[in-house]
Order: sequence, then C-alpha cells, then structure tokens
Amino acid sequence: MDFAAIRKALARWYERNARDLPWRRTRDPYAIWISEIMLQQTRVAAAIPYYERFLARFPDTASLACAAENEVLAHWSGLGYYSRARNLHKAAREIDAAGAFPRDFAGLRALPGVGDYTAAAVASIAFGLPHEVVDGNVKRVAIRLVNDAAADAQAVSARLLDHKNPGRSNQALMELGALVCAPRDPSCGTCPVARYCEAHRRGTQAALPPPRAKAKTVRLERILLVIRRRGRILLAPSPRVQGFWDLPEPFPGARAGLRIGLFRHTILNRQYRFEVRAGVTRNTPRRMRWVTGGELDEIPLSTTAKKGLRCLKEG
Ligand code: ADE
Repeated sequence: MDFAAIRKALARWYERNARDLPWRRTRDPYAIWISEIMLQQTRVAAAIPYYERFLARFPDTASLACAAENEVLAHWSGLGYYSRARNLHKAAREIDAAGAFPRDFAGLRALPGVGDYTAAAVASIAFGLPHEVVDGNVKRVAIRLVNDAAADAQAVSARLLDHKNPGRSNQALMELGALVCAPRDPSCGTCPVARYCEAHRRGTQAALPPPRAKAKTVRLERILLVIRRRGRILLAPSPRVQGFWDLPEPFPGARAGLRIGLFRHTILNRQYRFEVRAGVTRNTPRRMRWVTGGELDEIPLSTTAKKGLRCLKEG
C-alpha cells in the first residue's frame, strides 16, 4: 500500500475540507485537551456550545483548578459520562500543583482521565509531536483501507501519520471518518483515498468493520416526585449520576399524588420511563434538601430533574 501517497492525499483533502471548529482555532494545549475529552463520547455539534461555555467560565488550568466541583459538574450537565468532568477537575489541580502543563505524551498520559487516545491527540495537535491517534473513526478507516477486520489499527494509523504535521495528519484521518468514511453508506465517490482503499476495490466497505455485539437494552420504570413547600422543592442526590441532584423517588414518609407528566431518558443501555407525580411528605430524609428556584440554577441538576421540572411548566 502506498502510504506516502495516502498521507499526501489526506493532507490536501483536510486543508480544503476541514470543518471550522472552535478548538481548531487555537494551539492552547488546555483548550485542546478540554475539546478532546468532550469529543470522546459526544458528537461535534452537541459539544460546541458546551465547549464555548466551559472555556468562557474556565479559560485556563488555574481557573478550573480553583473552581468548586459543583460548578464544574454544572457546566458538564447534559453531556453525560460525568467522570470526564471530575477527572478534568482533578487533572487541573495536579497541573496547577506541578506548575506547568505537561508537554509530552508520557506527562499527558499520566493525568487522570487521559488515555492513549487523548494523550496522542493533545501531543500531536497542541505540540506537533508524532503520536498517532486511534479512535473509532480512525479504526474504521484503517480497517477499510487494508480490508481486514482484524487489522492492527494502531499499526496502520502509525504508517498514515505525517511526521511533518502530526496534528493535521491525525485530524485529517478523524475528519475523514466523520465526514466521508461513515459507518453506514460511506461516500466513496468523494473520498480522497478511495483509489488506495482495498475495501473500496473489493466492494466490502459496507460490511467493515463488522458490528459489535451491543449490550442488551434494559427497560426501567421509575417515579419522580415533585414535592413543594413554601416556595422550595425537595431534591435528593441522584441515584444514577454521582454528584448531581435529582427529584426524589418515593421514600418512607412520602406519598405520591397526581401524575404531572411522563418522559423517557436513556443512560447507556438503560432506557428509563419516568412518571412525574406531585407528592407530599411528612419528613425530610437527611440526605435530601429543600432548594429555592434561584438555587436550582446553581447546583448540578441531573438531566432527569430538568426534564421532570419541565413537565411542571408544561402541565
Ligand atoms: N474527534 C475528536 N477529536 C477530533 C479532532 N480533533 N478532529 C476531528 N475529529 C475529532
């Protein structure tokens, strides 16, 4: 396979077709790190407004390090996979204590929440270091290029890495996976490397990579209570997402009344159906708290609490 020609074609294509994304307008390693953590489990379009709000509030390591965890989580609220935010916060404190942002792969890799992917992405994009990234998009492109579902994607990616511009090279490969070499219906007609692609030549691209066995969907039903007293509402620590507040589920001493609304919410393979009901209580369990409308905007509120409270407004 002519890897040199593929590298060149990818670079040309990227220069012409790269999306103008906010984290591509900076070389600030901190900002690039935040973007790569967000993009791990979140689509680009969904990540953009979060990225901009997060950077406006926490523009550098120091501001993130000295923030309260509550506020960091509140800025992550809705993105899911909250250990990402907790690890960012922890890492910012470590960087702040060390006095400087790590500038190589090993230093980055040692931060909480930073794996091989993120370390390679930041090292290459922010510092121009030659580390190939392997994410889901890159894996798919690599497997199709060599037409082998069992191929070592890391080894293929290493050969696709342009050592003169590793940041551009890695992003080109990821961009190709996102925009052209899509999981379903890849656009081989506009692909800059179709002529080198073994799957394209053999027409196997739609079957590669083979679908992974997915975790079985579990359906769950829960009741959330809206319990109000003197302008305050009762919240409980979320049983689903650590560090967030939610509407309480029925508890001893509480009574569920009329239904206010219904909504669905999915977390990984768990599909919840929530029934929101008005409630009253004789007592306040120790772990719960009464909050005012103003406080609702300041504490980390789970997405399910937000959806539940929306039922109130609509009902
Ligand atoms: N996905 C995650 N990070 C990316 C980046 N920097 N460019 C393109 N796609 C990405």
